[in-house]
Amino acid sequence: MIHISLKRLLLKKEVSFIVREIMALLGTPVFVQDSEGRVLLGNAGEGCFKNRHPIKLGERVIGWVNGGERALVLASLLSYLATVELEKKAIGREALEKYKEITLLYDITEKLTASLNPKDVAQLVVDQAKRLIRADYISVMLINEDTGMLEVVAVSGEGGCYTDVIEALTGIKGNVVHTGKPEIINDILSDSRYVRKAIGVSSLMCVPLKVKDRVIGLIIIGSRERINYTAEDMKLLSALAFQAAADIENARLYDSLKETFLTTIHTLAETIEKRDPYTGGHTKRVMNYSLAIGSELGLSEAELERLQLAAVLHDIGKIGIRDGILLKKRKLSFKEFEEIKMHTIYAEQILNHIKNLKKIIPGVKHHHERFDGKGYPEGLQGDGIDVIARIIAVADAFDAMTTDRPYRKSLGLAVALEELRKNAGTQFDPDVVKAFMKAYESEKLLSKEADTDAKHINSG
Ligand SMILES: [Fe+2]
Repeated sequence: MIHISLKRLLLKKEVSFIVREIMALLGTPVFVQDSEGRVLLGNAGEGCFKNRHPIKLGERVIGWVNGGERALVLASLLSYLATVELEKKAIGREALEKYKEITLLYDITEKLTASLNPKDVAQLVVDQAKRLIRADYISVMLINEDTGMLEVVAVSGEGGCYTDVIEALTGIKGNVVHTGKPEIINDILSDSRYVRKAIGVSSLMCVPLKVKDRVIGLIIIGSRERINYTAEDMKLLSALAFQAAADIENARLYDSLKETFLTTIHTLAETIEKRDPYTGGHTKRVMNYSLAIGSELGLSEAELERLQLAAVLHDIGKIGIRDGILLKKRKLSFKEFEEIKMHTIYAEQILNHIKNLKKIIPGVKHHHERFDGKGYPEGLQGDGIDVIARIIAVADAFDAMTTDRPYRKSLGLAVALEELRKNAGTQFDPDVVKAFMKAYESEKLLSKEADTDAKHINSG
C-alpha cells in the first residue's frame, strides 16, 4: 500500500508556499496537525478553535486543519494535494514495475535467443519464470510429435518434481493444449478436471507455448498455498511463453537440421566403407575411440563436434583411389603407396566444397602426419599438426592393428597397445597416447560394439 506523509507534503516548497499564503489570507490563527495530533504548521497556542476540519485521503483522515470556518478551504486544498500526490506515486510505482518487467523480459529474450538446445531453452524459461512470478513449482512440458504425449523437459520446485514425466493430453493441461488459451485456477481442488499429483499445488496457472496457431507445449506454474494469480501475472507469463515458444521451435529445427547433416555425413562415410569389406565398422570405431580420447583431453563441446565429423570423414579421400589399389590384397608397391597417400589431398579437395566442413580439413588432411615430422602429406611436426588429426592418427592406428586386413590378421589388443606406447613421441603425440591409455583403462574407450569386435578378433 502506498503511504502519503502529510508532514512531507507540507515540506514541499510549492505546497508550503501556497499553504502559508492561504493562512495569511484567512487572517485568523490556523494550525495543521497530523492524524496523531502533532502540530505540523502554525501555532496551536494562539487560541482555542471550535472548528476542526479533517484532511482526507479517500476515506482515511490523515490530519486536521484547526481554525475558523474559513479554514475549511485549506483542509480541502490539502486533501486534494494529498490525493494528487498519491496518484503521482501510484503511477510512478506502476511505471517502475512495468520498467522492471520489460527489462526482465528483454533480458530473458536475449538469453533465450542465444541458446540452440531445446532443453536449455526450456530450463532458461523455468529459471526466468521464477524471477517473474511467485511459484513453488514451475515446469515446461513439450508435446512429443511422435507420441502426442506431453513430456516435462524442465522443472523447478521441491519434492515430487521430475523431468521425463510423460502425460496424456487430458485434464487442465489437455484443455489448454486443445483451446490454445491460458488458464488460471486459483482453487484447484474445486476444479473437477484436476487429478491430484505429487506436486500438490493449490493454485495453478497454465499457459500454452504457441508457434503461430500450433500449441507445442505448456508452461505450468503452481503455488502450494492458495493464492490469487491475476490477469497481470498471466499476461507476463504469456509474454514469456510467446518468446520461449519461438526459441524452442528454432532450437528444435536446428537440432533436426544437425541430425540430417550428421546422417548425410555417416551415409557418405559408409559408402566408402562398402567398397572395402575389410574395413567394415572402421569409421564408427575410429569415431568412438577419437571421442573417448577427446573427452579425456578435455576438449570443448565445439572441438568434440569437429573431432566427431573429422573422424567420420577421415578417409573420405579414398573415393578417389582406384579399386585395384584400394582393395589390393598383397603388399603395395612404392608407386601404389604414393597413390594411396593422395587420399589426404583428395579429402581436402572434396571438403573444400562444403562450407560447414571446411573447419575439419586440418583434422582430416593431416591424420597421417607423424609427431616427429616424418608423415604425409606435408611432413608437419608436433603441435604444428591439428590436435584433431593427432587424435585420429592414434584411433585409426589402433583400429587398424586390432582388425583383420587383407594382407594380415589382427595383431591383438596387447600388441596394439604396446605399439602405441612404443611409438609415443615419434609417430604419435605422447599426450594423445596417454589420454588413449587412460580412457582405455577407465573402460570409457571401448564401446560395447568395439569391445565385442576386439574380443572377437583376439579369440579368432
Ligand atoms: Fe587414412
